[in-house]
Amino acid sequence: MDTTEALELIASLKGYLHDLRDTGVDGLPVRSATAPLTITAPSEAVPQPPVQPAESPVTDSSLASLSHGQAVGLNGVREELGDCRRCGLNSTRTKLLFGAGNPAARLVFVGDAPGGDEDRQGIPFADEAGGLLTKIIQAMGLHRDEVYLCNVIKCRPPQDRDPHPDEIRHCLPFLLKQLQAIGPEIIVALGTFASQTLLRTKEPISKLRGVFHDYHGIPLMPTFHPAYLLRNASMKREVWEDMQKVMKRLGMEAPAKR
Ligand code: URA
Repeated sequence: MDTTEALELIASLKGYLHDLRDTGVDGLPVRSATAPLTITAPSEAVPQPPVQPAESPVTDSSLASLSHGQAVGLNGVREELGDCRRCGLNSTRTKLLFGAGNPAARLVFVGDAPGGDEDRQGIPFADEAGGLLTKIIQAMGLHRDEVYLCNVIKCRPPQDRDPHPDEIRHCLPFLLKQLQAIGPEIIVALGTFASQTLLRTKEPISKLRGVFHDYHGIPLMPTFHPAYLLRNASMKREVWEDMQKVMKRLGMEAPAKR
């Protein structure tokens, strides 16, 4: 490993530890120096709950080694979020949009934030861009109910402005807990904001898309946002290429015809 790779690895580890701390994890189990180190192939890197020996009781300390989202489940994360007033967006939102779909989905799509339609209905991707996303999901041979749809930000920013850093800071830990609870095999980040926020980078979406990145051990595919596709129809081809990679990784048959 050269110096650049080592620095990238350290930066990525730092980001991971910060995210864990934000979700309430204040310690990590330490592996004994003599314990064998198992290296898993990237495709096996999806985090699994630690196996409890049958007779060992689940104690507070053994729960601490589970990720928070896995421990409390999706409903537990929703309860913890409650009638959230952690940032100023609560005063302008109509409905808080937690997410929708299969709570055990293999595939999760993450958008940026609710817009006007989503704010009124409390349903993700309820607008025209959402209609296009639904078509993309169907073209993959799936139904909206089989996947899970959510956003980085759970309340609509006024006039659909970009979310402020403190809004992201309060909301992001809940997305991480949600993803831990669902345990998807793949995340698709839709558009610049979701991709850059989750991957902690300023790289343009045009550079990020098309390859899998790592988000807390889960492969993440950035792609263009469906709202962008409504304005740039020629980019649909790139998104379809990205979704074919997702389908391949999930072991899904590519539909014969789109
Ligand atoms: N755009 C998003 O990113 N998310 C939604 O839920 C709706 C529009």
